[in-house]
Parts: sequence; structure tokens; C-alpha cells
Amino acid sequence: MCGIVGYIGQKKASPILINGLLKLEYRGYDSAGLSTLEDTTISNIKNKGRVNSLNEVPEINTLTGTIGIAHTRWATHGKPSTTNSHPHMDNSKTFSVVHNGIIENYNDLKIFLTENGYNFLSQTDTEVIPNLIHYYFSKDNVDDDKKFLRAVQSACKDFKGSYAIEVISSLYPDRIIVTRKDSPLVIGKGENENHISSDIPAILSYTKDFYLLEDNEYVEIYRDHLDFYNKDLAKINKPIKNIEWDATAAEKDGYEDYMLKEIYEQPKSIRETIGSRIKLDAPCCFDELNFTKDYLSSLNKICIVACGTAMHAGLATKTLIEQICNIPVEVEVASEFRYRNPIINEKTLAIYISQSGETADTIAALKLAKSKGCKTLAISNVIGSSITREADYTIYTHAGPEIAVASTKAYTAQVTLLAILGIYMAEVLGSVSPLILENLKKEIFDLPNKIQTVLNDVSGIKNFAKKVYNEKDMFFIGRGTDYAVSLEGSLKLKEISYIHSEGYASGELKHGPIALIEDNTTVVSVITNDDLVEKSISNVQEVATRGAKTFVITNQDIDKSRFDYVIEIPAISKLISPALSVIPLQLFSYYIAKEKGLDVDKPRNLAKSVTVE
Ligand code: AGP
Repeated sequence: MCGIVGYIGQKKASPILINGLLKLEYRGYDSAGLSTLEDTTISNIKNKGRVNSLNEVPEINTLTGTIGIAHTRWATHGKPSTTNSHPHMDNSKTFSVVHNGIIENYNDLKIFLTENGYNFLSQTDTEVIPNLIHYYFSKDNVDDDKKFLRAVQSACKDFKGSYAIEVISSLYPDRIIVTRKDSPLVIGKGENENHISSDIPAILSYTKDFYLLEDNEYVEIYRDHLDFYNKDLAKINKPIKNIEWDATAAEKDGYEDYMLKEIYEQPKSIRETIGSRIKLDAPCCFDELNFTKDYLSSLNKICIVACGTAMHAGLATKTLIEQICNIPVEVEVASEFRYRNPIINEKTLAIYISQSGETADTIAALKLAKSKGCKTLAISNVIGSSITREADYTIYTHAGPEIAVASTKAYTAQVTLLAILGIYMAEVLGSVSPLILENLKKEIFDLPNKIQTVLNDVSGIKNFAKKVYNEKDMFFIGRGTDYAVSLEGSLKLKEISYIHSEGYASGELKHGPIALIEDNTTVVSVITNDDLVEKSISNVQEVATRGAKTFVITNQDIDKSRFDYVIEIPAISKLISPALSVIPLQLFSYYIAKEKGLDVDKPRNLAKSVTVE
């Protein structure tokens, strides 16, 4: 987690750095700081709190330097405090470092450095970095222009864990050195200036030309050029990647919050994700994949592995893939998968879903599957993200930048893309009648319009949210794919409104959790699976009998008078209904959080990109 930015150019660095940090706040926001080079001394300004708290530090206005590095923190080692905030400097104040990731062996390094006379002020793992750089710098007797770079490389060789780091030095006031391993870092190339960031949108307003770093590569970044090096410090060439995202796509665009904007963007993001992959009169198009009938027929199973909402997208499409491809699908959380020695082999296709493409557990789970001979397929929203570089194949959702911590448009794009992937594989396999697949394609084409219909009138959802926003507990229930979407509805409510909730399979309630239902407990039920309507209604009746307030989201022809509150959504195949029925659930959580006066974009304790395990 944590966000880092850097700037080297002709302009005053501090406002540019703060502007970049504000865009990265979704990655962490308990403290912030920046270092700029003021002639040949480093000024270091830090504060506990959000990025804007830096503007409260009087010295911020005295900075004039045109080189700087900055950080917004999500605490891992050491509580949020000014001392623990980055940048961290070595004892001699020659080197200043910002870091995203975790130095797992920091304790051993701290002992080593302490024995060598270094002192530590913070409880962070990061503080060993500038001091170790200083240690190697002082031991190097060759006084050439690469001494700084060699010291950074020597220090990095000692680190276990993950890091994206930026380093400046008072002795080298013309450059920033950066490197990464298992944590994201991009460099944006400008005209006589360069920008560094944890993600592309934060610096998209300055440039569209990016360098994407691989693990263990080093870069010396000057105002007018960049020198790239491999892990052994041999010079390498790095291609520039032009990113087509529009900078305004990462702005709020008149909406009160990013989350609301992203909810409303879903018709568009789904259209973009469909792109030209589906044609009614031709097979689905995945040029990135060369799956043959022989390969797909040889599969013993498909494993879908991911975290949080991305994992829910896998659950939401498991039934579709199983039914039309006739291949068993297992869906699992990455943090469990990676440590349980799963039975997978070259006959398993392992699919990894990650909006950010930087989630540590998902990447580790992918590496595990590769080591066991599986073909790995990444589904990500971020071009060039770490996961896409590890996987054998990558297909992208085209949801555009998702800034709000709570994932909305990425989920519906993932469900859509997985559904198209399922259809593609069924076409290659010839496992189901073309008519069934054609109907599914039509349903996917119609999905954006149906989502728009739900978005056109949100008053019912808003009203219900106003009635229940003060509650302490809620349940989300459903059967089949409605169960999968209930889990997502429950997660959304927890993360942005801080109301405890459980997502449950409707039929499972009576095996225990129904004991928690009392007068006025809100139970949200999703009923779109046409073959399970009566059974789902019975389950709602069971909780209503025990006093529950029933909120039903349905597209079935049911007697509405039996429930307290009903939201109708358009008819859709149960195989892709989670991409539609989730919309009222997203809005429900959103309006509850707003009623409570909460910051929906940056909920407490969370970060957008979970780059630590
Ligand atoms: C979603 O609302 C959450 N913030 C979270 O569960 C997220 O989906 C999860 O951390 C996975 O992120 P990724 O898709 O970037 O890998």
C-alpha cells in the first residue's frame, strides 16, 4: 500500500508532489510527507493525517526546490505519526527515501546497522533503507558518478520483501534514483521534466508517455534524460509506452465522490470492456489467447483466484463457465490458495483477477500456479501492472481508472469479461448449442442499457437507505448467482458504511445465522434466478416471520405485498445477472454511507491497492 510520487524538472516541486499525493490518497492516508532538494540540502516535511495536512506545516511555503520525492502512508510498521511518516533520512541527512512495500528482514538489518553506529528514530521498516544506502556509500572507495547508484543497488541486494523506492541525495542534486521489486512504480516522461508515481492516473495530467519498470531495474532520473540499468547495473534500453487514458477520466467530473461517478460510469465501462470482442455472427475475439479445442478439452479444472471484490466476480461467473464449457471451476481467495498446496497441474487453467494488478496475494498465488505447470491468465484493469507481467496471458477490462477504494465498475467489467471469456471457450470447445451462446451474447450487449435503466431512478434505493442507515447489522441473501452477488453487496456495505453485515446463501440461514434475526433486522434479498424464485421467497418469509425488515431486489414476477420494500430491475439471464443486480446494492451502500456522513472514497483502515500480504 502507500503511494509515492517524485518530480524533477524546472518548476517548484512541492505543489506538484502534493497534487500527485492527493491522487494517490486512495492507497493510504494516515500520514504524508515530502523531501525536496533546496540547493544542496534536503528539506523534509511530514505530518500525521491526510495529504492536505502538509499544507498546515508552515515550512511548506518556504520550499523552492525543483527536485522532490513524496509519500502518502498506510501504516504497516509503526503507528501513524509524524515520526513514522516518510520520507526517512539516514543519520547524516545525506539520503532521503520514500518506500512502498515491506522490508521483511528490517529487524536483522536494523541490528546490523545499530552495531555499526547508526541510530533509528522511527518504528518503521523503511528507516533501514537510507541508512543502509549510507553504509554502502561510505564503504565505497571509488569516487565516480555511479557511487550513489551502486550504494542503492548494494542496499537493495540485502532486502527481503517488496519495495518501490525513490532516493535523493544532497551530494547528487541533479537526479532521483528509483527501483522496484514486487511493488508498483511508473515513470512519466515530460519535456525537460520527469514524474514518478505508484500509478499512472496520478501523473496523467502531465504526460501520456510512460516507462514501466520491471523488478530489480534501476533508473537514474535527470531533468532531461533517464538512464536505465538492470539488476547488475548494466545499461538497458527501455521502450516508452503511450497511455491513451484521458486525464479527466481520473477526475470527479462534477460528481460528489469518485465512487458515485464510477457507479454511474458502468454502462460506459461495460461497453468499453465488450469492445469488439463480441459479434453475433462470428466467434468471440480474444487475439491474446490461443486456446485450442485440444487444450481446453484437456483441462481438468479452472481455478479462479483473487481477493475481495475481484474474487466475488469469479464467484459470480463460476456457474456460467461451468454450464457452458462443462469444465469444473473452483474460486478461491488468493491468501488461502497460495499457502495450501492446491492440487493443480498443467491440466489446470489458473485465472487471476485483479483490478489494480498489484495485489500481493494474487500475484503470489499466480507465481505458485506457474511453478506447478499451470497456464496462467491475468484479468486486470491496469496496463502493464505487475500481474500482467507475470502471467502467461493477459486480458484487460477497460473500466478506466478506478479511484474510489470500494470497487464498483471494475467488478461489473470483470463479470462481463469473464462471461465473454466463458462464451469464447464454449465456442472453441463446441460444448453447447450456438443458440444458447448467441442469446448470452445478446444479453451482454443489452447489459449497459439495463444498468442505465437502474441508474435512471435511484429514489427507491435512496429512500430505503435513509430508513436503515443507523442499523448495526444486516444480512444479504440469495441463491445461485444471487448468492454470489449478495457477498459483494455485503462487502460494499461493510467497507464504506461500517455496518456489520453477512452475505449468506439463503438456504443456509436456517443452519445457524437465523438465530441472529430479531425485530427489524434488515435482510436484503436478491431474487433473479428464475428457477429458484419460490425457494428464495420462502427463505425471505422465514426471516420476515422472525421480525426481519425485508428489502428485495428482483426481476421476477412476484407478489410485492409480501415484502417491506422492493426494487425492480430489468429481466436478465441468471448467468450474468450479478453484473446488473449489484447496481442497487452498490447504491444502497453508497447512500447509507452518505447518510452517515462518511468519506465513501477513502473508508477507514482500507487502501485501494493491497500490495502487502
Ligand atoms: C473492493 O471494494 C475492495 N476494496 C477490495 O476487496 C479489492 O477488490 C481487493 O483488494 C482486490 O483488489 P484488486 O482487484 O486490485 O486485486
